[in-house]
Amino acid sequence: MRFLLPLLGLSVVYAFPQRCPLLPRDIALRSETTLPDPFTTLRGQHVRSKAQWSCRAQELSALFQKYELGTLPGPPSSLKTSLSINGSSLMITSTKGSESITYSVNITLPTVGKGPFPAVIAFGAPSIPIPPNIATVVFDNSEFAQQDSLASRGKGLFYDLHGTNATASALTAWAWGVGRIIDALERTPQALINTRRLAITGCSRNGKGALVTGAFEPRIALTIPQESGSGGAACWRLSDYQLAHNESTQTASEIVDENVWESVDFRKFANNTDLLPFDHHELAGLVAPRGLVVIDNSDYLWLGPWSSWGCMSAGRLVYEALGAGSNMGYSSIGNHTHCQFPVDRQTPDLYAFYDRFLLDKHVETDVFYNSVNLTFDYSRWVRWRVPRLY
Ligand SMILES: *[C@@H]1O[C@H](CO)[C@@H](O)[C@H](O)[C@H]1NC(C)=O
Ligand SMILES: *[C@@H]1O[C@H](CO)[C@@H](O)[C@H](O)[C@H]1NC(C)=O
Ligand SMILES: *[C@@H]1O[C@H](CO)[C@@H](O)[C@H](O)[C@H]1NC(C)=O
Ligand SMILES: *[C@@H]1O[C@H](CO)[C@@H](O)[C@H](O)[C@H]1NC(C)=O
Ligand SMILES: *[C@@H]1O[C@H](CO)[C@@H](O)[C@H](O)[C@H]1NC(C)=O
Ligand SMILES: *[C@@H]1O[C@H](CO)[C@@H](O)[C@H](O)[C@H]1NC(C)=O
Ligand SMILES: *[C@@H]1O[C@H](CO)[C@@H](O)[C@H](O)[C@H]1NC(C)=O
Repeated sequence: MRFLLPLLGLSVVYAFPQRCPLLPRDIALRSETTLPDPFTTLRGQHVRSKAQWSCRAQELSALFQKYELGTLPGPPSSLKTSLSINGSSLMITSTKGSESITYSVNITLPTVGKGPFPAVIAFGAPSIPIPPNIATVVFDNSEFAQQDSLASRGKGLFYDLHGTNATASALTAWAWGVGRIIDALERTPQALINTRRLAITGCSRNGKGALVTGAFEPRIALTIPQESGSGGAACWRLSDYQLAHNESTQTASEIVDENVWESVDFRKFANNTDLLPFDHHELAGLVAPRGLVVIDNSDYLWLGPWSSWGCMSAGRLVYEALGAGSNMGYSSIGNHTHCQFPVDRQTPDLYAFYDRFLLDKHVETDVFYNSVNLTFDYSRWVRWRVPRLY
């Protein structure tokens, strides 16, 4: 079918599901001291078209699940929803076999205008400003998959449903929960949410979750990780490099002993991230070409500001390959407390993305900077060419 495309000139045909190769049974991990090539498949095929990229993206998603994030299950066998009379609480019941779980999200609608409204789904209370014409949906992700310490492994509603042995890390569990929230909103038109104009956000640990959710859930139109650091917008290899240069940055080695944001299988890479067949520039690549604006804190070393800057600079190359460079933004400003969004300085960057991806306004989203002049040496870290995907 693909061969006919250029003849017929039907780019819309890309929307048809295509069969992509599964992961090879045996994957030979090899050490890569630079950021891996998003545009070469495990079998060595060079990605040249958008159709090939869509299969490569599936392969990357499978690799992230296999080695770092655990398996993202499919939808549950049944889903029931119930909206409270005041419209501000949506109850969701997911059933799998004989197990059921129920949780609620809080919805705050704009007080002006008429729905359906675009919405920001927030992991916990949102710590970014949300304009008055956009709804907010608050998800208690920490109840859904706990994140207190290593003892949180397998704890929370997600694991009540899928079993305590489910390989999904907390971040993957939250992404699954967001998928069900969107299912529920789609089936509940009286909730007045436009499910084609949804953003996801969270800060710090929840920012890691926001990026992973944007990567795994194609119905998210705009992904807004805030100060997410390692496990989020930072690259494992680059954070290791920062630590090796005596900057006290969170790394894979630290994170696997701190909490359950990654899967158990990720432990074997903790002291050897060069063996990972991907890095987080490719997690950003999985969000492409949908909207992505990374909000960072340029002087909080623990997050690895240089690592995130470099990682997202490399991630933007995937957007550029897709002809959508400005769909991804990076805004990093310092001199503020962790997760305290500097409203006076950073709001215009964020609002441009809301305008464009949630409010359908034709505005520029050329936002890509850090406030402390961090530089990223592409010739050192990016040893691949960026194709122009047709
Ligand atoms: C709306 O109803 C829910 C469920 O009955 C209740 O928990 C919540 O406090 C109510 N919210 C408002 C804003 O009245
Ligand atoms: C929803 O709001 C109620 C109070 O109205 C609160 O008790 C509950 O924790 C909130 N749930 C979430 C997910 O934030
Ligand atoms: C979880 O895994 C352990 C160890 O492999 C096994 O003993 C246990 O039966 C499993 N539990 C479930 C619910 O599958
Ligand atoms: C880091 O600190 C150690 C111990 O103080 C020192 O030996 C090493 O040279 C430092 N490395 C860099 C890259 O600055
Ligand atoms: C990583 O290496 C450190 C230092 O040798 C060690 O203490 C730690 O247990 C290792 N972590 C893992 C997950 O193997
Ligand atoms: C940082 O913030 C403080 C207090 O808000 C201000 O006095 C100071 O000038 C700021 N420093 C920079 C480098 O912006
Ligand atoms: C960044 O570079 C600009 C232009 O060279 C300079 O004016 C500014 O002071 C620099 N900022 C920092 C934090 O170094």
